[in-house]
Amino acid sequence: MEKTYIMIKPDGVQRGLIGQILQRFEAKGLKLVASKLMVVSKAQAEKHYQEHVERSFFPELLGFITSGPVLAMVWEGDQAVVTCRNLIGKTNPVEAAPGTIRGDLALHTGMNLIHGSDSVESAEREIAIFFEQSEVQSYTKAA
Ligand code: CMP
Repeated sequence: MEKTYIMIKPDGVQRGLIGQILQRFEAKGLKLVASKLMVVSKAQAEKHYQEHVERSFFPELLGFITSGPVLAMVWEGDQAVVTCRNLIGKTNPVEAAPGTIRGDLALHTGMNLIHGSDSVESAEREIAIFFEQSEVQSYTKAA
């Protein structure tokens, strides 16, 4: 079953939007298989956003993502990567469609509430930055 890395960023946690956001993923039929409220370290942020290191906004992004607790998660389901990206909406919340998380709840690209992996390869890489394998649960084992 496909897995993806989802992270509610410091703005989402501070605005009290965790419940609303999780409800959308659960309602869609995805399964939460790992979660952790944590402060992202500078080293983790640099690994996670490695493709943006040279971008002009990187210092702002680094400062923001390490500024307070995030909810790091792994969600599982059929085509979980693209399904979650569709629920999240476009990076720039102004362009994100109504009905998506960013389209409904965010306004600024720098504070766009939530991150979702953009490919299966990215998901594997990102999950490994934030979780030990033993922290990722399997519903079938528990049944
Ligand atoms: P995310 O989906 O987490 O992936 C990369 C992040 O970089 C993106 O969401 C935005 O939060 C951030 N980002 C992209 N473009 C800009 C920008 N121009 N200014 C600030 N942050 C940006």
